[in-house]
Amino acid sequence: MNNIHRPRRLRNNQMIRDLSAEVCPDKTRLIMPHFVVEEKNVRQAIKPMPGIFRVCTDNLLKDLESDLKLGIDKVILFGIPAEKDEMAKGAYDEHGVIQKAIRRIKKELPDICVIADVCLCEYMSHGHCGIVENGKILNDPTLELLGKTAVSYAAAGADIVAPSDMMDHRVGFIREALDVNEFTDTIILSYAAKYASAFYDPFRDAAGSAPGFGDRKTYQMDYRNAMEAEKEVMIDIEEGADMVMVKPALAYMDIIRRVRKIVDVPLCTYNVSGEYAMVKASVNAGVADEKKIVTEIMTSLFRAGANMIISYHTRDIFQNNWF
Ligand code: PBG
Repeated sequence: MNNIHRPRRLRNNQMIRDLSAEVCPDKTRLIMPHFVVEEKNVRQAIKPMPGIFRVCTDNLLKDLESDLKLGIDKVILFGIPAEKDEMAKGAYDEHGVIQKAIRRIKKELPDICVIADVCLCEYMSHGHCGIVENGKILNDPTLELLGKTAVSYAAAGADIVAPSDMMDHRVGFIREALDVNEFTDTIILSYAAKYASAFYDPFRDAAGSAPGFGDRKTYQMDYRNAMEAEKEVMIDIEEGADMVMVKPALAYMDIIRRVRKIVDVPLCTYNVSGEYAMVKASVNAGVADEKKIVTEIMTSLFRAGANMIISYHTRDIFQNNWF
């Protein structure tokens, strides 16, 4: 019998397995999301997402400080304004909830890398990601507001702006707006391949951003499409995106892999609210070991080709030293 090939040799023991592992999960490439409200003295639990809270700026800073002690130094911020309107004024208000939060972080905790999500849905009374006219979400007029929002986050000190709205040509528009205002060093992380997904439901509860009518299918991608993800990322990179994202993550690993193969920029994936909620629910039901399942998920996302992961699991991973 010719038995030269025995793949099991490389599984002989933990040391050999560690030595020959193709990919290792890396904590330094995790990004922790935060929901920030404008009102004071707030710490509200988000029911389907145990461990995640809506917080006021004071509490945000407390959380960031204790997270930083654990080693978490990269965050993405979502704002929940006190008032919403039809032009998303809170999004580009110099004294808006996110602008104020970024300024305080940069002053009090300068070692934190701040990513600001650029989207209008949390600031719009109708919950859509663009200006609405006669029931339609307008593309080009929305770009103006997105550009202003990105510039005001950059002015507040954001290291990275991350447009998640899925309007066409927003990356080019934002890049130009940043350049004109001399924020040439601000990084654009584009939510390039963002699908219309049922996995965002807990987030919309958390951010109060569910669309008041219809859905997001005229701007977010159709999950039946994979080639289209390649088109979206190439357009965004041509328009000046420094990094691109695939979102959601778990049911979209084929997309992560596909995009990884065609781009030479850092690739992020967003392990979204519904994915986190499913894991927490199964752990609470006693059908999953949290350390094992979270480590396997994170490792698999890196293996699929992600260079960095936005995940609500980040704090648990650092706190318990899961990897
Ligand atoms: C804003 C935005 C959403 C998420 C990130 N930015 C919601 C949406 O598009 O409806 C989802 C994140 C998550 O589910 O964790 N447009």
